[in-house]
Amino acid sequence: MFNISFFLNGEEVNTSVPSNLNTLSFIRNHLNLTGTKEGCSEGDCGACTIVIGKVRNEKVRYVAVNSCLIPAIRLHGKHLVTIEGLGSPDNLHPIQQALLDYHGIQCGYCTPGVVMSLFGLFLNNKRPTENDIHNALEGNLCRCTGYESIKKAAIFIANRFKNYPNKLLPSYFTEINKKLLSFNKRILWKQDINETYNNYNIPKSLKELFTSWDDTSKYESCKIINGGTDLMVDINIKKNLYNKFIDISEIEEINFIRRKNHSTLIGAGTTFSEILENCIIKLKLPIIISTILQIGSQQIRNIATIGGNIGNASPVADLTTVLIALDAKLILKSKSGLRKVNLSDFYLSYKKILLRTNEIIFAIEIPIKKTLTSFEKGAKRKAVDIASVNSAICLELKNRTITNARIALGGVAPFPVLAVKASSYLKGKIITKDTTKKVSSILNAEIKPISDLRGSKEFRTLLVRNQITRHFLKLFPELYA
Ligand SMILES: Cc1cc2nc3c(=O)[nH]c(=O)nc-3n(C[C@H](O)[C@H](O)[C@H](O)COP(=O)(O)OP(=O)(O)OC[C@H]3O[C@@H](n4cnc5c(N)ncnc54)[C@H](O)[C@@H]3O)c2cc1C
Ligand code: FES
Ligand code: FES
Repeated sequence: MFNISFFLNGEEVNTSVPSNLNTLSFIRNHLNLTGTKEGCSEGDCGACTIVIGKVRNEKVRYVAVNSCLIPAIRLHGKHLVTIEGLGSPDNLHPIQQALLDYHGIQCGYCTPGVVMSLFGLFLNNKRPTENDIHNALEGNLCRCTGYESIKKAAIFIANRFKNYPNKLLPSYFTEINKKLLSFNKRILWKQDINETYNNYNIPKSLKELFTSWDDTSKYESCKIINGGTDLMVDINIKKNLYNKFIDISEIEEINFIRRKNHSTLIGAGTTFSEILENCIIKLKLPIIISTILQIGSQQIRNIATIGGNIGNASPVADLTTVLIALDAKLILKSKSGLRKVNLSDFYLSYKKILLRTNEIIFAIEIPIKKTLTSFEKGAKRKAVDIASVNSAICLELKNRTITNARIALGGVAPFPVLAVKASSYLKGKIITKDTTKKVSSILNAEIKPISDLRGSKEFRTLLVRNQITRHFLKLFPELYA
């Protein structure tokens, strides 16, 4: 068991949890707060949404997350806000009241999750647009009400409270920031966590990480966990049990975005939501923004990291496909130093990567060049769906001649790949309709997709052809006028 201390709504809680317990089970079965609901246990339905506040750079940052995907041990030092902390049957929170007034509730099973997602939105965004409301709610499934009335309730709240956003905060929020900041100075992982159980280790710095790895008898076979959005699904659903974890989500040195000469460096621990907010990425790499907006849901993007997307080695990892097209390099770090590898060389076979024992993905280096870029994802739903096939293209041009080209594909091989032949065919070519047709047929010969649950070989081949046409249609609409 691990001793943890955190704020639950307005109260400080000191308790102990086993390392293999997720926050949803902890809230329902240990805290006996049953307002938070369980639907899928894999991040798909949003019924279990809670809001968590974490101190970062002396400020508290709140995010809505799926509690089924968070190890309970991670509550240590945080502020946990559950539906019970917002309103009660006799005293509804304004968001709950609006859902009632606008007929946004029938069976009510999804409602706590919907309320918490909206609360997370209003905490961070004082004047959300309709689009922001869509984004905040895309990870919440409702089977019986219909989303229109839920949306109307959210728009009502946005308008009603735009000049008084603090009225949406429960009274304990006035003191909580101060309390949480001083509380975090007081608590230290190493001191508080029961050292006898070392199957879950949460280093606070790279030094601590590599020192703990030094003691190989203890930590050699540790599974790295960052956001946990891939691993917790493995644990909850596939019952893939790992013996030991090394949790790198508290290491601030891998959470950064900065310019370096003609490149941008993104720390592997940076979450998708943090990348979305970053000005350098918005300005210089907008393709990354539009891709991330198609990944998972707001709750997933709030905890999932760029390093996890690469480290998971999924054949259809969306951002990884784009990063291969952008010619990204990985900076890997171990106790003996740093090394750099091309992301396109990082994958060896299905789920086999170039990472050595006791080494982590430290950062991703993306060259900044004047390029035309495009990303396409073939999935059944717009949000919270994994692609059957995805693709990205990055072209450097001089007038109408392509001077460099990189086409990356996901879902056609055991890992995301660079289409070497099709990319090199494009080099030196003038963009015409014929060039685009020819590149499609080269790709057809180059890829060897397999049939599985997400699509047959033939379907994937067709998707690739269609996606390539869409890339060129987007980038050179005049060709198809
Ligand atoms: C509901 C849902 C929807 C999703 N939708 C999408 C989607 O649309 N597109 C998509 O691409 N993905 C999607 N995902 C998958 C997942 O969210 C992403 O792959 C995410 O980027 C994983 O990041 P993480 O930090 O949560 O990884 P974790 O689960 O913490 O780790 C994933 C793997 O990477 C390894 N790892 C993590 N960080 C490092 C590091 N720094 N160094 C070395 N190894 C590391 C871990 O050991 C593990 O094997 C979805 C997942 C869920 C649950
Ligand atoms: S229970 Fe469905 S997202 Fe957590
Ligand atoms: S009100 Fe029944 S699932 Fe949404």
